[in-house]
Amino acid sequence: MTKKVRFTGKTAVVSGAASGIGRAVATRLAAEGAHVVIADRNADLGRKVAAEIGSAAEFAVLDVVDPDSWRQLVEGTRVRDGADVLVNAAGILKAIDLESDPIEAFTRVLDVNVTGTMLGCQAITPRMRNRDDAAIVNMGSVSAYVGTWNLIAYDVSKGAVRNLTKELAIYYARRGDRIRCNAVHPGVVQTSMVDGFFAENAEERDAWIATQPHGKFARPEEIANLIVFLASSDARFMTGGDYVVDGGSLK
Ligand SMILES: NC(=O)c1ccc[n+]([C@@H]2O[C@H](COP(=O)([O-])OP(=O)(O)OC[C@H]3O[C@@H](n4cnc5c(N)ncnc54)[C@H](O)[C@@H]3O)[C@@H](O)[C@H]2O)c1
Repeated sequence: MTKKVRFTGKTAVVSGAASGIGRAVATRLAAEGAHVVIADRNADLGRKVAAEIGSAAEFAVLDVVDPDSWRQLVEGTRVRDGADVLVNAAGILKAIDLESDPIEAFTRVLDVNVTGTMLGCQAITPRMRNRDDAAIVNMGSVSAYVGTWNLIAYDVSKGAVRNLTKELAIYYARRGDRIRCNAVHPGVVQTSMVDGFFAENAEERDAWIATQPHGKFARPEEIANLIVFLASSDARFMTGGDYVVDGGSLK
């Protein structure tokens, strides 16, 4: 059987690629022929993922909230010649109490999840304009659709990413750019982010499992399948969309 190589000759940037969903996406894009920039603030893990992928990957240290960091990524990697795919997968999750936590805890989550996504789009867009069908995929969450009691910053951030995605999709289309922009909204996925959250909030685990009709969480690869499809030209007419992949948890 011939291997599907939808990304041969294409360059992809994946933020948050040192771990979890970003790592699964980067691995899959490279397997389908892309040159992948593994971008993460965790240099040790990021370099390890790039080494595992091999010559199809390069690592760039990136702090998504820092515009200079994005500039260095653009100038210091293959992205300087153009980019076909941007997956904004860097993100953080933190339980926050409305009254007892400082406002900085709230704004930090918004900075990384929302401003970090915005800065990624801003930095990479000019390098996507010379491409035939470029695609951005932003990481939302089922949290963009529902409220919880202690994820006030995270839920607000994912609602914002959902609308940022629609805004940019229309922006690109009206300008005549061949750049698509979609959002993927996973339910709970087994990654370090979720392990860390349950380590600090052990009592929450059963409540979250109870939202899953199949009684289990997703694997990162099960989310990557959808992201990679949206990034590919198989999804050429798809932009501004919300794609939930949650095992039926929203019902
Ligand atoms: N795991 C889930 O259940 C779940 C569900 C819905 C949405 N998401 C979203 O998917 C994305 C990936 O999450 P994950 O579960 O793979 O998490 P993860 O913790 O496994 O990976 C996130 C990566 O982002 C990186 N990162 C964090 N802050 C950064 C910054 N300022 N600059 C650069 N890199 C930074 C981390 O170093 C890490 O490698 C996030 O946006 C998350 O909100 C996750």
